[in-house]
Order: sequence, then structure tokens, then C-alpha cells
Amino acid sequence: MSRYVGAIDQGTTSTRFIVFDRGGAIVAVAQREHEQIYPRPGHVEHDANEIWRNTRTVMREALEKAGLQPSDLVSIGITNQRETTLIWDRATGRPLHNALVWQDTRVDGLVAGFARDGGKDRFRAVTGLPLASYFSGLKLAWLLDRVPGARAGAEAGDVLFGTMDTWLVWNLTGGPEGGLHVTDATNASRTQLMALDSLDWDAGMISAFAIPRAMLPRIVSSSAVYGETVRPFPGVPIAGILGDQQAALFGQACFAPGEAKNTYGTGCFVLMNTGAAPVPSTRGLVTTLAYRLGDAAPVYALEGSIAITGALVQWLRDNLGLIRDSAEIEPLARTVEDNGDVYFVPAFSGLYAPHWRESARGIIAGLTRYANKGHIARAALEATAYQTREVIEAMETDSGIPITELRADGGMVGNDLLMQFQASLLAVPVLRPKVTETTALGAAYAAGLATGYWAGTGDLVANWGVDHRWHPRLDEAERNRLYAAWGKAVTRSFDWTDAPE
Ligand SMILES: Nc1ncnc2c1ncn2[C@@H]1O[C@H](COP(=O)(O)OP(=O)(O)OP(=O)(O)O)[C@@H](O)[C@H]1O
Ligand SMILES: [Mg+2]
Repeated sequence: MSRYVGAIDQGTTSTRFIVFDRGGAIVAVAQREHEQIYPRPGHVEHDANEIWRNTRTVMREALEKAGLQPSDLVSIGITNQRETTLIWDRATGRPLHNALVWQDTRVDGLVAGFARDGGKDRFRAVTGLPLASYFSGLKLAWLLDRVPGARAGAEAGDVLFGTMDTWLVWNLTGGPEGGLHVTDATNASRTQLMALDSLDWDAGMISAFAIPRAMLPRIVSSSAVYGETVRPFPGVPIAGILGDQQAALFGQACFAPGEAKNTYGTGCFVLMNTGAAPVPSTRGLVTTLAYRLGDAAPVYALEGSIAITGALVQWLRDNLGLIRDSAEIEPLARTVEDNGDVYFVPAFSGLYAPHWRESARGIIAGLTRYANKGHIARAALEATAYQTREVIEAMETDSGIPITELRADGGMVGNDLLMQFQASLLAVPVLRPKVTETTALGAAYAAGLATGYWAGTGDLVANWGVDHRWHPRLDEAERNRLYAAWGKAVTRSFDWTDAPE
């Protein structure tokens, strides 16, 4: 009987369950979107109950579609939107507040307060991260301060903290009836509460952010059998957890130092494997855990996180009604020959890497009577490529390793115009692998390695193959002219909101 590995991909916009075979090919998939809740400008929330409900639905649905039984699954891996922060009641399983999504900027004031005393990089040496609204630790601090009863409950051990991996594992393994309270080291590395070298909660950080220790999950490796499912069907080992961007790095088989990928989804996330040692960044990248397999030594990565890329396409669709479907942006952008000197800086959540500007906001620069919606569409797509070049340049400087090709994945890699422009702007080839669902694949790999479905990473490297390769086409003068204009536009987005108190 052939057996498979399942992966839950709990993303920012949707939750998927994907079943993979030994070759890394997709056997079955089911997907559900969840609501994006925007209570105020800059606030982004998710309903954690909806996400758990969707997870159960897609797990059952994918198996049904392929005519599989739970017993056909060797194990299940989980990958998740990172940094999205939740607190819930241990006894009832009820969230005390909607989850604060990674893009949410409500902790700007906390960032400014901590940065005043020692600067934004004061916690980099321990955690690898700058102070920013992005990471979970300050989101958790905000919830503890603002939600009635949260702090007292947490101190008494009645209120638990988790990112989406933790929330799902807890529910999958029984919830109030003995659910496991764990997170893997990649997710923990995004809280700004974990020490990067020991992979344990850091006493100094916990005390700086005033987080009760009792509410924190146990940090586990990214690939190991943690326990078995109780719901929505019993008895399947849960054996892998990786934050979505680390999962994509893993799914792209970037196991050697210097290997890098870019995932083009809601945001863009460039990660480079840097091997056994964490590499500090001086160029606005973050130092993060890439993965830890079983008891083996951890592997680290440098990351350039960009908040808004595909989300800008969604914004043109949902907020402006310029297109009805994300894919329609390409034909619209092709109605014009070039960007018509229009630049769109989508600093909707401030700017992340390499700038880290909380108070930046989105702008469209260079408008004239000549510009039309085709130029706006083109500028929106190009924004993804310019932002990627910014972080790739930072990565080359920090790592000392020139990037000679870029492995790409995520929803936007179906966009030929964007991928071609990316290759031209970077002056290196961009490669799309055969399986572009690398996030889910990475989680499946982690779970399959832990249960012996794959013998080692060599099997995974053998599974990786190129589907398409884009070669650079712009001459250097034009490439530099465009990039310089982009740089000018970026500076115009800075310091838009008033400095938070
Ligand atoms: N053909 C396309 N051209 C441009 N953008 C696209 C295209 N197809 C999808 N997108 C964008 O890609 C994003 C979806 O990609 P993907 O599913 O990888 O996102 P994601 O960040 O992984 O989402 P999630 O976090 O929910 O998993 C959306 O923002 C969508 O607007
Ligand atoms: Mg995703």
C-alpha cells in the first residue's frame, strides 16, 4: 500500500492541506480562505476559531478527494504564517482576543518606547531581530496589557500564548483535554523572546517585555514526533513544524550554506542558509533559525522580510476593483510598455527589511497626466522586484556570498512579467521549481524525515527540479536608472505617520 505525508499550510490568507508522495508530487489538496479583519488603519486580525475550523475541513476534504484514509498518512507536518499572535484559555480553548496578524502595526508605540532606550538594534545580539511591530513578543505584551484578565490568567497558568503552529498542534492533540503546548524553534525565533544560540526562552527578553513564563510553549525541534492527532481524525503522528518561510527554504532543498530562495506570496521573504553559525546583519536583515532536525545541531539563515508584495495585487483587486482576479494584473500591466515613470511603494505596514521604518506609509510617485491603470498595475508588480533587489543586495553584503541564481516560489511565480523583470533587475537567472508549493512541501519533508519516510536530505535534493528559468534582459544602464528612481520613491514614503508616543 502506498503511503503519503500530509502538510497543513496555515497561511495569512488561507489554510491548505496537501498530501505529498515520496517524489514530492501533490496527491491531494484542499484549501479554505479566512476573513481578514481590519478594525482600524494598521490593525490586522484573524479569528483563530475560524482558522481551526478551516484546518479540520481541509484535512478531511483533501483525504476524501483522493479517496484516502487517515491511516494512509505516515505523518503530518505543519507550516504556518509566522509571528501572528494568539492567547487563549487553557480550560475552554477560547481565544481571549482575535489573533494579531504579523502585518499589524498597533505596537508601534511599544517599539518606539523600547528603542528610545538603546536603539532599535538593542536586542539583535541575543535574538537576531531588530525592534519592530512585526515580531510576536511585543504583540503578546500588548495583549497582556490590553485584554482584561489576560495577565493574571497567564501568571496563574490559565492563559496560553501561541503562534498558529502552537494553536493548531494544541487543538489537533486534544485541546483542553491534554493538548500539547509546543512551538518549533523556527517559530520561536520570530517572537524575539528566544535566544538564538541556546534555542530557549531568554530570561532577559521575557523580563524586558514582562511576559509570564508559564504561558510560553515548550520549544521543540522542527522535525521529530511530537504526538498524535486526536482531531479531526485520530492516530496520525505530528512530526514536523516549520514557520512558512523556513518551510519554503526547506522545500526548495536549500540545505547548503549560501543557497537562497525567495517566496513571492502576501509578502516576499528571501532566506539564505548560512549553516551552523548565526550570521549577524549590519544591513537590515534578520538572523533567524532555518531549521533543526531532531537532535542535530541547528542551521541558521539570514532573512530579508518584505511585508507587502502579493498583498498589493490583492489591494488593487479588493480595495480599488482594478482587477477581479490576481492573475489579471499581468494582462493589465502588459497594456503598457513600461512603468511610465510611476513607482508604487507599498509601505502599508511601514517598511520591513532593509529599512525597518514603522512610520512609512504607501505612496504612488511620479504620476503625470500620461499615467493610466496599466502603469499602476506595472508599478505594483515592479515594486515586488525592486524590494527584492534591496534585500538581495543586503544579503550579499552581510553574507559575503554573491547570489548567482534565485530560486523562486509562492503564488506570484505564475506571473511571467514579474519573474522576467526580476531576473533583469537582479541580473541573475530566476528559477521556478517543479513543485511551487514549497511551503507545504517543506513541512511534509520535516514530518517525513522524522518518521523515516525519507532517509535523509539527499532524498529531498533528488526530488528538486527546475520547471522554468528566466534570464536577465535589461542592460545595466537601464537597470540602474530604474532602481535609482525606485530608491528615490522609497525615501518619499518615510516618516509619514507621526512618531508614536
Ligand atoms: N498571477 C499572479 N500575479 C500576481 N500576483 C499573484 C498572482 N497569483 C497570485 N498572486 C498573489 O500571490 C499571493 C498568494 O500567493 P501565496 O498563496 O503564495 O500567498 P501566501 O503569502 O502564501 O498566502 P498565505 O500566507 O495565505 O499562504 C496573493 O497576494 C496574490 O495576490
Ligand atoms: Mg503561504
